[in-house]
Amino acid sequence: MPQSGLPKHVGIIMDGNGRWAKQRGLSRTEGHKAGVEAFERICEYAADIGIPHLTFYAFSTENWQRPQAEVDAIMALFRRQLDDIERRKGENEQKRWRIRYIGDLDDGGPVPRDIFLRLRDMEAQAADKDKTIVSIAVNYGGRQEILHAAKRIARLVAAGEKQADALCLQDIEDGLYTAGQPALDLIIRPSGEQRLSNFLLWQSAYAEFWFSDILWPDFRETDFDAALEAFAARNRRFGRVE
Ligand code: IPE
Ligand code: IPE
Ligand code: MG
Repeated sequence: MPQSGLPKHVGIIMDGNGRWAKQRGLSRTEGHKAGVEAFERICEYAADIGIPHLTFYAFSTENWQRPQAEVDAIMALFRRQLDDIERRKGENEQKRWRIRYIGDLDDGGPVPRDIFLRLRDMEAQAADKDKTIVSIAVNYGGRQEILHAAKRIARLVAAGEKQADALCLQDIEDGLYTAGQPALDLIIRPSGEQRLSNFLLWQSAYAEFWFSDILWPDFRETDFDAALEAFAARNRRFGRVE
């Protein structure tokens, strides 16, 4: 881990579960289970070293197009994670991170209702500012998020609370699921793909990218460190001249 220059907000696209399973002759569901273990490992490590914001891409708005059996298996894993969080409530208080879910989680959406209700309950719990905020993106799409922010602004303008000509970037920021959090500094995508796949489009405007061929279930603390080292060595200019 670098001595200085840690990112404040890291986004991780947890990709490669299916290929990991295939390599081992296992079902894709087994790959997703191993992916959850990698999530827990990296989450714990990143919180320990003091990364204040982590956002993990778990299920995109486009992932509903997968075979129903796979979608069901992933939803079952979410239920299991929620059970786990509830069961370990006392322990969670001691932990250095707090989990929240982001995405299009409105009532009546595609997320099964029992899961939606539990996610909403978790959101209602008080934020703990001293802890790492771990956001898990479920039914998440970057374009959909920007549309969500635009609708909020349209309502404010229609209600006369905002003037269209006076709108500014902050008004869009305020309508994002990540409102109040810093912009992304670093995006990590394992599995060999080099694309965003609709992840945090607005927030990644000046993010640094780190790609690797490792499949997500194989991702270790040392890989996270390698990404942090690379990030610390980058020269971020934000459009300016040195
Ligand atoms: C990421 O792994 C998990 C989700 C998108 C839910 P994949 O399931 O996309 O794994 P590959 O890309 O097929 O290997
Ligand atoms: C991105 O992975 C979504 C998540 C990791 C949740 P995908 O596997 O869905 O992305 P594509 O289809 O390769 O772009
Ligand atoms: Mg994939």
